[in-house]
Amino acid sequence: MEVKLHKLQVTNFRNLNTDVYEFSDNINCIFGNNGNGKTNILEAIHFLANRKSFRKNTSFPQIISIESEKPEILFSSIIKEENNLFPYTGKWSLKNHEWYIDNKITKKKPNLKTVFINPFDSYSFHSIPAFRREWFDSLFSKLSSEYKSTLKKFNDSLKFRNSLLSKRPPQYRDQIKAIDPLLAENTVALLKLRYEFLTELEKYCTKIFRDIFDEVHELKINLDSKFKSKTVDEVHQFYNESLPKDEIMFKTSYGIHRDDYVLQFDGFNSYEYCSLGQQKMSFLSLIFAYIELFRYKFTSYPIVLIDDVSGELDSRRWKNLIDYLKDKKFQVMITTANENFRKKLESIEESKKFYIENGYVK
Ligand SMILES: Nc1ncnc2c1ncn2[C@@H]1O[C@H](COP(=O)(O)OP(=O)(O)O)[C@@H](O)[C@H]1O
Ligand SMILES: [Mg+2]
Repeated sequence: MEVKLHKLQVTNFRNLNTDVYEFSDNINCIFGNNGNGKTNILEAIHFLANRKSFRKNTSFPQIISIESEKPEILFSSIIKEENNLFPYTGKWSLKNHEWYIDNKITKKKPNLKTVFINPFDSYSFHSIPAFRREWFDSLFSKLSSEYKSTLKKFNDSLKFRNSLLSKRPPQYRDQIKAIDPLLAENTVALLKLRYEFLTELEKYCTKIFRDIFDEVHELKINLDSKFKSKTVDEVHQFYNESLPKDEIMFKTSYGIHRDDYVLQFDGFNSYEYCSLGQQKMSFLSLIFAYIELFRYKFTSYPIVLIDDVSGELDSRRWKNLIDYLKDKKFQVMITTANENFRKKLESIEESKKFYIENGYVK
């Protein structure tokens, strides 16, 4: 079932005015110079769908307009499910938030899903292993509640083991012996899911890389884990044997929490081998592959929020990216401050264009 955002109006959301944005079901372009509110519009949409920002540690005090008279942010939207329109609104203050679907108060989130594509993520992804781990964990969790709950169980047992290793209560060795079988079990379950999702994701990667970027290269993701195809007993034994070392380190020195995902470009490690432009293309291909997998799982696409990704790509790649977006029937909101990329986007006839100045739609 296709779900789209048809209309949106926000009140007291950062610098945005109370304009009503009426979106197209396919491509929406948001133009404007730096600091005028383009990203804020994407953030408002993300907020509406997820009830939180895509930014970390960002909550009500940062988001409420500094000029607001009343400490309250209002969201008013119309959602389109297939051809059925209904209102979805929200009221958010420091203490609580209330949401209404079809004018009835609700705890349930609407069926509105988003994927946010941020240019900084490409840099972080290519330089910080912990970022990659969190990135995959968060994307896979959105695809599957089983992944989410297995990840939580794994993290809880690891955290407990680490706190025993660092605080050393009187019987900590016995307690570690008691928790290790559980940690081993959770390790194997989580790793199995990771490999399954990676295999599914990889089915789309190379094809999308070729479709969007005209590249005859191959894109693969390799998860480097010592525990690959190990049984629960073998992993348990490994934890057991690592205990003396872990005691010296005051933490669990090795486990899948240290595994790294390596993006492979024609078999080369993309983090060391690729140019910034190639890294951007690889990263975008990976996200679009994820979006295809998302659709395969949920039978509908998410709303794709793309915050200025034009940097480092040449004009041929821009054109390919636009052709890809035109071809795919998902709803996309794409921003840019780059004049040349703007001209390319402006030439898409069927797209909707928003020109933002100082929080107002011109
Ligand atoms: N809480 C807030 N209240 C009012 N204005 C804000 C608030 N938070 C950020 N802004 C303004 O929003 C602008 C940034 O908007 P942004 O959407 O990031 O710009 P861009 O168009 O470059 O993406 C800044 O100029 C900042 O002054
Ligand atoms: Mg911006």
